[in-house]
Amino acid sequence: MTPKKKTITKAKSSRTQKIVPKKTTKKVVKKTTAKKVVVKTESKEITASDIRVSKIKTPSLLRGMKDVLPKDQYFWKKMYHAAEDVCDAYGYGYIETPVLEDASLFIRSIGRGTDVVDKEMYVFEDKDGSKVAMRPEFTAGIARSFVGHGMTSLPQPVKVWCWGQLFRHDRPQAGRYRQFHQFGCENFGVHDPAIDAETIGVAYNFLLDLGINTNIHINSIGTLEDRQNYIVELVGYLRTKRSYLCEKCRKRISKNPLRVLDCKGESCKAVIEEAPQIIDWLSEKSKNYFVKVLEYLDEMEVPYVLKPTLVRGLDYYTETVYEIYTEESEEGAQDALGGGGRYDMLIEELGGQPTPACGFGIGLERVIMVWRKLIEEGKIEQEEVLPKIFFAQLGEQARMKTLRIIENLRQEGIIVGHNLGKTVLKVQLELADKQKCAYCLILGQKEVQDKTIIIRDMESGIQEIVDQKKLKTELDKKIKKMAV
Ligand code: HAM
Repeated sequence: MTPKKKTITKAKSSRTQKIVPKKTTKKVVKKTTAKKVVVKTESKEITASDIRVSKIKTPSLLRGMKDVLPKDQYFWKKMYHAAEDVCDAYGYGYIETPVLEDASLFIRSIGRGTDVVDKEMYVFEDKDGSKVAMRPEFTAGIARSFVGHGMTSLPQPVKVWCWGQLFRHDRPQAGRYRQFHQFGCENFGVHDPAIDAETIGVAYNFLLDLGINTNIHINSIGTLEDRQNYIVELVGYLRTKRSYLCEKCRKRISKNPLRVLDCKGESCKAVIEEAPQIIDWLSEKSKNYFVKVLEYLDEMEVPYVLKPTLVRGLDYYTETVYEIYTEESEEGAQDALGGGGRYDMLIEELGGQPTPACGFGIGLERVIMVWRKLIEEGKIEQEEVLPKIFFAQLGEQARMKTLRIIENLRQEGIIVGHNLGKTVLKVQLELADKQKCAYCLILGQKEVQDKTIIIRDMESGIQEIVDQKKLKTELDKKIKKMAV
């Protein structure tokens, strides 16, 4: 039996991607009363018994997916704490929405014609026949939650932050995965440039706290009306330059003309440079709003670069849009660390009361990539996180006491390294040395009986025997000395 593969095919009628189990699809020919022959496709649900399992080969990681490993915990933990700290300080509350949502949520929010919806979204039929999608981004789910939980009646603005996995079936490459993580913030209920600036500031300062200096590439795409007027002008212009555009951009002229402005192809770039700029099509109100956002950023000393062709790839944006790049990022780079903007129509679009909103999402794998590079280049330091004290045990009785003593110390706020897999003292001392511990606690048979413990200075080799009851006080003194 060959394994049953899943193929991704485009469903003609729904224009969404649909995962259809290949081998389990059978055609049923049904006669109607009008004697017309209708061909109906009936797909059988896959169950665990349909899947061939090899007992020899280790199941491999799916393409574009990545494990988060303990060796990288320094980055993940530090990012999470930095996000938590900055969000606490600015009054953002933690929110979590499900990975699976009704697929129509994303189609309505992000929009047909966008790459995320048309090409990258993981969509499939659930066991009850409903079309579900694995979230490709957070904003739509959070907006649904805002409406569903009646958050309009809470004091505004409602400020939330989120953290977790997202899924986009993109072509994998460095910094682009099919499962990736974002940290994001959303701010609902107030239409004011100060709010745009606040969210940009949170994103900027989160990265700055990690030691990453960035620039905000910023633009305004105006209100829906401003944008519609601009699109008419843009389409007119692009039609005159059609022959210079790449194949994809020719199609985009009628499908999603704003996306042409994002094309990095050489001949397209030349056309884009000469294209009408959206900023010239903004109403006076939108222009003033944008200027105020910039004034706030100046005041907050957040560096920004005006990018007249920046439009973002998701349909829900209105007015302020931005992307976050490292200072070193080259012109035209596609490796934004994050992006965001205002989306004043989305809540209404999802059936809620008209509610202005804005926010951002930062791609955490990309942050780690940049961060690692900065560490390698010696531009930022990776702090030492290993415990400075090691606990070594010798003999059965000592092993028995180890976990109790370690836990007592932990409860007193003292963390000690240990390895219960080792029994030989020399090996444990080597580990302590490798982990650059300043001290090693040694508990042997004799110490267990005397209720004492040895504290060994790893540098000088000098050992002192202390009463177990006085261990915390002795260690506190040593920790104080280490901190100086
Ligand atoms: P986005 O620009 O689609 O915006 O994604 C934000 C960031 O997520 C990107 O700048 C990038 O760092 C990261 N990212 C996107 N796709 C991938 C991928 N395939 N692999 C790795 N990282 C990726 C949004 O998602 C909006 N929801 C942001 C937002 C929030 N706007 C308003 N509120």
